[in-house]
Order: sequence, then structure tokens, then C-alpha cells
Amino acid sequence: MRILVIGSGGREHALVWKLKQSPLVEKIFAAPGNGGTHREGAINCLTAVDDIDALTTLAKREKIDLVVPGPELPLTLGVVDAMRRAGIPAFGPDAYCARLEGSKAFAKQIMSKTGVPTAKYEVFDNIEAARDYMVKLNAPVVVKADGLAAGKGVLVAQNSREALQALEEIMTVRAFGAAGDKVVLEEFLQGEEVSLLCFCDGKQAVPLPSAQDHKAAYDNDQGPNTGGMGAYSPAPMLQGADLDEMVALTITPVLKELAACGHPFTGVIYAGLMLTPAGPRVLEYNTRFGDPECQPLLMRMEGDLAQIMLDCAHGGLDPKSVRWSEQTALGVVLAAKGYPHAYAKGRLISGIEDAERVAGVKVFHCGTTIRDNALVSSGGRVLCVTALGDDLARAQASAYAALRKIRMEDAFYRRDIGDRGLRGAQSRELPDVCAT
Ligand code: AMP
Ligand code: GLY
Repeated sequence: MRILVIGSGGREHALVWKLKQSPLVEKIFAAPGNGGTHREGAINCLTAVDDIDALTTLAKREKIDLVVPGPELPLTLGVVDAMRRAGIPAFGPDAYCARLEGSKAFAKQIMSKTGVPTAKYEVFDNIEAARDYMVKLNAPVVVKADGLAAGKGVLVAQNSREALQALEEIMTVRAFGAAGDKVVLEEFLQGEEVSLLCFCDGKQAVPLPSAQDHKAAYDNDQGPNTGGMGAYSPAPMLQGADLDEMVALTITPVLKELAACGHPFTGVIYAGLMLTPAGPRVLEYNTRFGDPECQPLLMRMEGDLAQIMLDCAHGGLDPKSVRWSEQTALGVVLAAKGYPHAYAKGRLISGIEDAERVAGVKVFHCGTTIRDNALVSSGGRVLCVTALGDDLARAQASAYAALRKIRMEDAFYRRDIGDRGLRGAQSRELPDVCAT
């Protein structure tokens, strides 16, 4: 089988790494890929993730048997629809279903219609009305740009001054462009966050094990929201029968509604959940693997990912083919100083081989490229150092031991990935900068 993976992050490196283990797979192309996909032997192609025509031409020219879009942007732009029109199977939802992620207002509407529990909210398309509503709300309040903003369009405002500032930034400054044409204002929820992902073949949803992401940039969940600074799986707060109950509550009704609209969902659906004292609430849907959740999840996967994806694309997934190791996997993101705001690129990276000598460790590349035969940073999130262990404490210890072997100037990482899952864990002595 010849596979085209679309994207250039840690998730796409993990997808290439796992797909390559399948006996069905002959060749993998990555568009555009990164230093990590290159090291796995994939052919990196200089095609942008938002150039749907060029991606379709590439898939036809290379006689691709399965297209695997990693990020949300090509999905919302209709890459799956385009591939299907060209007769090429693709693992992912069509543009209609991808609106579940591409528009928070659309997602809220579907949740309201189908009775999925979520935070109370209002949607606004003009700043005056939003401002009037905001002053009536008790802080804290959550301000969300409606459209795609790489995980950065959500601002938790602690008081009305911050809330108004956030509103200005989204709607007047237009920090996220057209994604800020509308805003969703919603009540602030407290609880444990957990990610619930399912493989979907258009008829059924087969859950992956739970995972927990760490969205804030700094330790103790401080600082701005990012795409995710680390993740582990399983999350002890959502396991066993609870997982199936949660699918029935938060995923199945939405899939039924989409199918009833003539758009059965294929690919991965992801519910970002908040487990509040009043019960679970859906914070958002994504219509693809999470990054970095994908990295620890695929480290635990025992089935054949290529077969699973093909079966999803063809509408006949066998739930028994989706198998997982009992071990825990944990990934920590090494990021460039300044991320999620401005950061420098082109920093030399070394020590990956040493890091991978730590038992159970795999280093996934998130934002790297090869320049003059050297590996250099090319993104805000640079690496995701991921470890398998017999339990969460062991996986965490291995990931951090490996991370300490990596050298990159102006890098930082969170020192508390996994601590929420380790009840009573004390903060540990780990360097937050790995200087050369
Ligand atoms: P989202 O992209 O909607 O998942 O939001 C990104 C992050 O913002 C979430 O992972 C939460 O940490 C936080 N967040 C979003 N909505 C809420 C909410 N209603 N209450 C508290 N935190 C929230
Ligand atoms: N890590 C969260 C996301 O991929 O949206």
C-alpha cells in the first residue's frame, strides 16, 4: 500500500512511524513532513497542507492507496471530499463533518440539538452585543474564537477587564483573522480534563484508550493555551466501562445527527471533556488525532494502523482489530522559548540518539527540519519525547530522563506532565531549560 500522510507535526511523525510497522505498507509520502518523517524513510513532498488541488494531484501521480490527513485545516478545506472525487480512499471526515472542529458555534449547535452536555454559552457576530452580554456575566468567563486558531483561540478571562480585552483581540484586532468573525462566550468550568478519541467508520465508534493533554504553556497549568505541551495515556480518571458510557453520552448522538444529515463520519472524532462535579461536559470536538495525544496513544497501539484506517475509510472496521498495550505512555513536548507567541527557528538539536537509548523511549519530531545535514528547529513545538512504562510514574521517569539528554538552545518544557494523574505527586527537580 502507498500512503500519503498530510501534515508536518509530531502527530504526523507518529503516524508515519506506526504506519510503517504495517506489513501492508510499501511506501509512505509526507506532505510536507518534517525531519522525523524523513528519518523514518518517508518521502517528504513540498506540498502545503492547505493546497487541496496540489495534494490531489500528488496523490494521483504517486498512485496513493490511502490518504491520511493529520491536521484540521485540510479537513475543513475538503481534502477528503476531493480525494473521494478522485477515487482515492481517505481516512478522515468530509468538510461538513469537519465543521464540528472548524466552527465552535456549529459544534455547540449540534450539542444543544442532540442533548450532549456542554458549558452554557452564547454566540455573537458583533462586538457590541458580545460586550453587553459579557458585563452581565460573572467572571471567570471563557472567550473563544469561532474558527480554527491552532489551539490558541481560547482565552480564559479571570475578570471582566481580561474578558473585554480578549474580545477586542479576537473581534477588533483580529488576532486569529476570519476565525474571529464570531465568538462563543461560555461559562467557566472546573474539573479534570480528559481526551476521548474514537475510530469511526461511518457506522460505529470504537474508542481509543483515554488520554490527558496539558494545554497551558507552563507548569501548574499556568500561562497561555498552546496546542498541547505533553500528554499521557491512559488517563486514570476515565477507563474501563466509563469509557463506553462516555462514548454513548458525548460521541454517539453527534455521529447519529451527522449521519442523519447525509454525512456519516469517518476518521477520528475527539471529544475534549471536562469532568466537573456536576458531570462531564464537552469543551470541544476535534475531527482528527490530537497532537500530542497521538504520540503516546500510538506508542500503546498493538493493531495494524494501516488496516484500521483503510477499514474505516471503506466503512467496515472490526472493533477487535483495535488493540492496545496495557502499559502507560507519556510524551513531553520540548518547545522553543516564546511559544505559543513569537519564537526563534533554526536552533541546532542534538542528543536524540542518546535519548532513544533510554528503554521504551521514542522521540517524535514536531517542528524540525534538516539544514546542511544538521537537524534544526522549525516550529514552536520542536520534539515530543515519548516513553512507554509499566505505569505512569515509570513512563514519566523515562520520558524526563530521555529529555535531559537532548540539547537545544532556547528550549523549554513543562516539568509536570503526568503529575495530575499521579495523585499526591510532589514537584520534582528538573531543569526547565536545556542549554547547549
Ligand atoms: P478548546 O479548544 O475549546 O478545547 O479550549 C482549549 C482549552 O481551554 C481547554 O482544553 C480548556 O483547558 C480551556 N477551556 C475551554 N473551555 C473551557 C471552559 N468552558 N471552562 C474552562 N476551561 C475551558
Ligand atoms: N492537543 C489538542 C489538540 O490537538 O487539539
